[in-house]
Amino acid sequence: ASESEARDLVIIGGGVAGYVAAIKAGQEGMKVTCIEKRGTLGGTCLNVGCIPSKSLLNNSHLYHQILHDTKHRGIEVGDVKLNLAQLMKAKDTSVTGLTKGVEFLLKKNGVEYIKGTGSFQDEHTVKVELNDGGETSVTGKNILIATGSEVTPFPGLTIDEQTVISSTGAIALEKVPEKMIVIGGGIIGLEMASVWSRLGAQVTVVEYLDQIGGPGMDTEIAKSIQKILKKQGIIFKTGTKVVSGEKISSNEVKVEVDSAKGGKPETLDADVVLVAIGRRPYTGGLGLENIGLELDDRGRVIIDSEYRTKIPHIRCVGDVTFGPMLAHKAEEEAVAVVEYIKKGYGHVNYGCIPAVMYTFPEVAWVGQSEQDLKKAGIPYRVGTFPFSANSRAKTNLDTDGMVKMLADPETDRILGIHIIGPNAGEMIAEGTLALEYGASSEDIARTCHAHPTLAEAFKEAAMATHGKAIHY
Ligand code: FAD
Ligand code: NAI
Repeated sequence: ASESEARDLVIIGGGVAGYVAAIKAGQEGMKVTCIEKRGTLGGTCLNVGCIPSKSLLNNSHLYHQILHDTKHRGIEVGDVKLNLAQLMKAKDTSVTGLTKGVEFLLKKNGVEYIKGTGSFQDEHTVKVELNDGGETSVTGKNILIATGSEVTPFPGLTIDEQTVISSTGAIALEKVPEKMIVIGGGIIGLEMASVWSRLGAQVTVVEYLDQIGGPGMDTEIAKSIQKILKKQGIIFKTGTKVVSGEKISSNEVKVEVDSAKGGKPETLDADVVLVAIGRRPYTGGLGLENIGLELDDRGRVIIDSEYRTKIPHIRCVGDVTFGPMLAHKAEEEAVAVVEYIKKGYGHVNYGCIPAVMYTFPEVAWVGQSEQDLKKAGIPYRVGTFPFSANSRAKTNLDTDGMVKMLADPETDRILGIHIIGPNAGEMIAEGTLALEYGASSEDIARTCHAHPTLAEAFKEAAMATHGKAIHY
């Protein structure tokens, strides 16, 4: 194609990173093409990640609560039955509604959407193998790689999504397993363990580290949520490594586990095993070799602080490059990269990206953990407030959890906020705003919070950070 036909921006990948960049670029008046091979937009997050998992988490919680947590509230229910097919249908309805909504938004913003697999032919041309057959090519003044990530496989255990499953199988099982082993006690492991344990499976989570929750979770918080999840029936084997596994039949898998510190090996068996040991960047079939782009030792596309690869008009954002693999991080980068292209400046504060684990109660945090600060030799002050002392949590009969704040002892500036609580994922937005604005714990403590709300625990933790809480 000639230069005059070149698009301002060609995006490979229509996940959160790709579709948000497409909308933003459309809003900026750019001529944009977005190439996605899945057949639907929204990527991992909307199709097989954030959205379907939250649907199952929400409805399995409701089911579990109706079964086990109503009588003492004065609600007597009759025969409660699980209709798994309908639970899955409700999930699919949410997914379809949202992915179609994204398609509408692309159209509304004048984005050309091509269903197919893109690969680099040269530095300006992307060849597309169309999903419907045939081939085309698109030329771009700028090209954005937003191809996301895929499941890290476990050697020896081939994922069939029935017996040996990844998160994709875990959001689509057709029956509740009797026994389920989860390899990896990170966020995927714990969210999916919660879903299937609530629906009736006996779930064992095997985690190599001494602490669950994956990278970034504060150790005190991780210990506390482990106790809460254990009370809910999940079995934990921490400090334990899965060394090998074998599928025996369509409803039997065995895994060998070993104490991480040495000790007795053990064999565990289950009818389903979930592999949740992390995700890795996805660049398969992208033809990076055709343009001489190299990956780092973890398979990530190498970029500079303005998301440029070593070929300056080819940029990259989202799971396929550096940073936490989170949808909202991908979204921030997508907006910033378009701003860099269009205006020459953009902004993402990597010290201020919240993380949420949607178990019950939820766990959420932003900024640094206590162990991070210790390791870096940064002095800090801690303030905590338990939900058991919060009036709203007490009236809701949901008192597990706490708010923990870490602040600089000299300046009182907030360094990190860590929450376990029923609404932690919403509450962390307040903490993120505080951190982004460089607030002190006193700033939060002097901000009026409505009564009775869970957010008062947030305010009181701030009071406890530089002085004393009132109700504890
Ligand atoms: P992706 O969403 O992976 O999108 C990349 C897209 O590119 C894919 O659709 C792929 O088909 C397409 N593609 C790849 N190569 C090509 C090619 N050559 N041509 C055309 N198309 C191509 N994050 C959160 O923040 N909150 C959550 O609650 C959360 N829950 C999750 C639950 C699960 C089970 C999983 C697996 C992940 C979850 N995540 C969550 C992580 C989140 O899904 C990712 O961080 C996010 O999807 C990253 O967006 P992305 O656009 O970079 O990549
Ligand atoms: P993870 O990196 O969070 O956790 C993987 C865990 O597996 C680690 O704790 C690790 O120590 C353990 N592990 C690795 N090998 C092991 C072995 N052989 N035996 C026992 N344990 C082993 O990865 P996870 O949970 O797969 O999630 C992938 C990504 O998806 C994460 O980066 C996360 O950010 C994202 N995600 C985010 C969600 C959210 O924001 N709510 C929900 C789900 C996923």
